[in-house]
Amino acid sequence: MQHFDSVLKENRIFKPSDDFRQAANIGQLEDYQNLWEFADKDYLQYWADLARDLISWKKPFMTIFDDSNAPFYKWFPDGKLNVSYNCLDRHLPDKGNKTALIFESDFGQVSSFSYAQLHNRVCRFGNALRELGIGKGDRVVIYMPMLVEAVIAMQACARIGAVHSVVFGGFSAGALRDRIEDAGAKLVITANGGLRGGKIIPLKETVDEALDMGCPTVENVVVYYRLNIDTAWRNGRDLWWHELSKHQPEFCEPEWMNSEDPLFILYTSGSTGKPKGIVHSSAGYLLGAINTFRNVFDNKPNDVYWCTADVGWITGHSYVCYGPLANGATQVIYEGVPSYPDPGRIWRIIQRHKINVFYTSPTLIRSLTRVGDWIPNKYDLSSLRLLGSVGEPINPSAWMWLYEVIGKERCPIVDTWWQTETGSIMLSPLPGINSMKPGSCALPLPGIMADVVDETGQRISGQSGGLLVIKRPFPSMLRTIWNDDKRYQATYFPAELGGKYYVAGDSAHRDEDGYFWILGRTDDVLNVSGHRLGTMEIESALVANPQVAEAAVVGRPDEIKGEAVVAFVVLNTALPEGQEARDLAEQLKQWVSKEIGKIARPEDIRFAENLPKTRSGKIMRRLLRSIAKNEVITQDVSTLENPQIIGQLQRQVL
Ligand code: WTA
Repeated sequence: MQHFDSVLKENRIFKPSDDFRQAANIGQLEDYQNLWEFADKDYLQYWADLARDLISWKKPFMTIFDDSNAPFYKWFPDGKLNVSYNCLDRHLPDKGNKTALIFESDFGQVSSFSYAQLHNRVCRFGNALRELGIGKGDRVVIYMPMLVEAVIAMQACARIGAVHSVVFGGFSAGALRDRIEDAGAKLVITANGGLRGGKIIPLKETVDEALDMGCPTVENVVVYYRLNIDTAWRNGRDLWWHELSKHQPEFCEPEWMNSEDPLFILYTSGSTGKPKGIVHSSAGYLLGAINTFRNVFDNKPNDVYWCTADVGWITGHSYVCYGPLANGATQVIYEGVPSYPDPGRIWRIIQRHKINVFYTSPTLIRSLTRVGDWIPNKYDLSSLRLLGSVGEPINPSAWMWLYEVIGKERCPIVDTWWQTETGSIMLSPLPGINSMKPGSCALPLPGIMADVVDETGQRISGQSGGLLVIKRPFPSMLRTIWNDDKRYQATYFPAELGGKYYVAGDSAHRDEDGYFWILGRTDDVLNVSGHRLGTMEIESALVANPQVAEAAVVGRPDEIKGEAVVAFVVLNTALPEGQEARDLAEQLKQWVSKEIGKIARPEDIRFAENLPKTRSGKIMRRLLRSIAKNEVITQDVSTLENPQIIGQLQRQVL
């Protein structure tokens, strides 16, 4: 495990303005304290009341919680509901004409969909899926660009009780195949292409390639016609979305699901080579998404909200597909690259749609900071009233830039900490209540029993880092890892901590005000531009190349991306030099892009005749991390079996 101590000394504190506080959904200190008191005193009742208030139930639940098979917890287990009904149908009586989605394409065309129109599209597509024989419990992989249709596909699955598994459109054929096979998907939904930054992303070709490599469970591929391009076709297997939907009835009866029926699987990286299929429930997950969207983003009926996350990640699930729609909000979906065709695009979108609430990632903020204040200053950003950040620690300087240059010191910033596994935001300031400290994700939301403990489960405070845990099960937490209950239990509820605490895999410390500061992952997971990548996954990809004998991957701090991938490689042939080394490094970078996806492409590949190992054969990752940072090695290398290779590992291929 990696250990961290906090070196950050950040003392600035910012309070929400009186205006903001007075208008906020939770703005009275007393209300906030009451929520905490209630949660502390009667934890289960606290969640039960919220679940009754915020969810429309087909059959109300009588049992709140069942921990008879811990840590396989159940929430509201005897209730029945449908998530898509909660996102669409229940708004129709009074919000049918309200805009649900505003779509801006890569090229800047805009279209919008009211709740009634979205309902109609979801119903027709849901019926189409049923006609294909898809029903409750069947797995459907969605491999789509950032289009309204991606949301429609997810909602249609939820409507008919199928379990979707969205795979980010940047993943390669191999990564897609692995996920399809692990989920045992019957159907894949894709588009004939995607557009990003004016370039065509050949999604359908990648699906064909993935299916050629295996995936025996897939019966059909439904293809959305996005681009006027030639599309390779397999008769009998491939079907056009528009043809399937054309004659479908305009209403699709929701499948009434049990609270605990899985809503979706989403794959994420862990500390082994195999991604984990995180399984989320229907009711508990929905409750987390609704409640946090309303409180953290202080959702107001007339707000226009924009989250820049892709639906391929958890943020796109909870804060594009489910949370905003379940609250009847209006949101923008943008198809393309934030800096296309120029670095002003983001601010133009905000100006054009008069965005009030903007939720994005530190990587994006850092990349925009770089190009200079004059770019955002050209645009009217006065509609903004709240800003949010997610996915990685935001460094105080990027926070200050967002606060001053974009929010003009008027907009609170919610730095939200959470994970694929937690389903919804866990730590964040409540924007009308809590003061903000740049770089801290503040405090647990009411009802979230988060803390920092040592390896025996004892509480830690002060500057030293410890394990970030959540001490009581909460409704939106993952239910298991698909096909791997054992790994779920061992990873998240380790016996060393008593088996009762949810262990997040992050290191954190709490300051004297109880504020949380995230220090980094405790496992071998990198966070590159807010995307989780397992070092083992990249290592497996590298050693799958016939030229590679052995590989070790570590992260190196990066000004823009947060972390960059550095790979140390031992070849099957002699140590390459000069041009040969450059060519090989480039080949291997491309290889990783092809095996996993561009997001995993190493920034730096270094060759050596061996890796630094202890006498017992363990790779010294800590040493590799220092070498990757080009630090002077002060570590004790006396246990190293082969100290002479350090010089080779230090040599960058330039
Ligand atoms: C990191 C994304 C610091 C953390 C929602 C976590 C953060 C991992 C923050 C989850 C934040 C997320 N500050 N670090 N505000 N938010 N992280 O599953 O290491 O893609 O464990 O979920 O991102 O990444 P995931």
